Amino acid sequence: MKREEEIRMRVSETYTCAVEQLEKSPSSCCCGPSPQSFAVTLAGYSHEVLAGLPADALVNAFGCGNPLALAEIREGEAVLDLGSGAGIDLLLAARLTGPTGKVIGIDMTPAMIERARANAAAVGLTNVEVRSGIIEELPVEPESIDLVISNCVINLSPEKKRVFAEIYRVLKEGGRFSISDIVADPMPDWVHELGQLYSACISGAIPESDYLAGLRQVGLVDVAVRDRLVYDHAQLVGLLDSELSGSCCCGSSPIPREQIFKVADVLDGKVSSVRVIGRKPAKATP
Ligand SMILES: C[S@@+](CC[C@H](N)C(=O)[O-])C[C@H]1O[C@@H](n2cnc3c(N)ncnc32)[C@H](O)[C@@H]1O
Repeated sequence: MKREEEIRMRVSETYTCAVEQLEKSPSSCCCGPSPQSFAVTLAGYSHEVLAGLPADALVNAFGCGNPLALAEIREGEAVLDLGSGAGIDLLLAARLTGPTGKVIGIDMTPAMIERARANAAAVGLTNVEVRSGIIEELPVEPESIDLVISNCVINLSPEKKRVFAEIYRVLKEGGRFSISDIVADPMPDWVHELGQLYSACISGAIPESDYLAGLRQVGLVDVAVRDRLVYDHAQLVGLLDSELSGSCCCGSSPIPREQIFKVADVLDGKVSSVRVIGRKPAKATP
């Protein structure tokens, strides 16, 4: 198996384990109390926006921001969510596009796809479709999407350039993107060697300048960071607890508490959640 496929498989196993563990014990996971509330709390969704969503979509949210903030979705638009998980952003986007719009989620983890479909059905949304696939090779028609969103997923890809090129391919001319993701300064080797930190959205993260350059290199324009949250020590411990819930529930050895604090010491101020926006250029008028 290619290295990239192995990484995707490990990430997928981690998220399968995380949702299965939460199903068995929804109020607590093996790494700490209610870790998923951290993702939703810190992501910046307002209570009003979340009202009416199925509890399952909130409990199984693993994002690091709110890609829909100020995305100005218009009725009837086609929205694509890369790595849609249990569907929190799919459901919120579907409300905004209305029944004349269409929201497509892509995920590679069957347990997540099942949940997102069930959550959309639970609130009666008929304009949400969840497709199985990888974000490096999207099962989506070229130039068919008005807005690409994604929440804490591209950092997990071992082939980020392919993902950026796919965003360009599927966007209509003039189409836009709004992506929340983790970026990070270069880390010491010993942090990279803690394998669980990859699926925890830490060690696959690249520097912000490389991320923006990667998006520009494929032809996307007006690429800019709109919001930035630089994680402090306490927030890093919360993020690690939240995102590591899958790996330790999965049977891999949990990272000892003191090691989590050591990682947070080293990465304090070096890991951020950013919301990056941009667009595909509109067709030049002759
Ligand atoms: C950190 S979770 C975020 C889920 C969701 N966006 C949210 O905010 O709750 C990462 C999700 O991305 C999916 N994922 C990770 N890498 C992927 C890839 N290369 N292709 C497709 N899905 C991927 C995982 O299966 C998981 O559901």
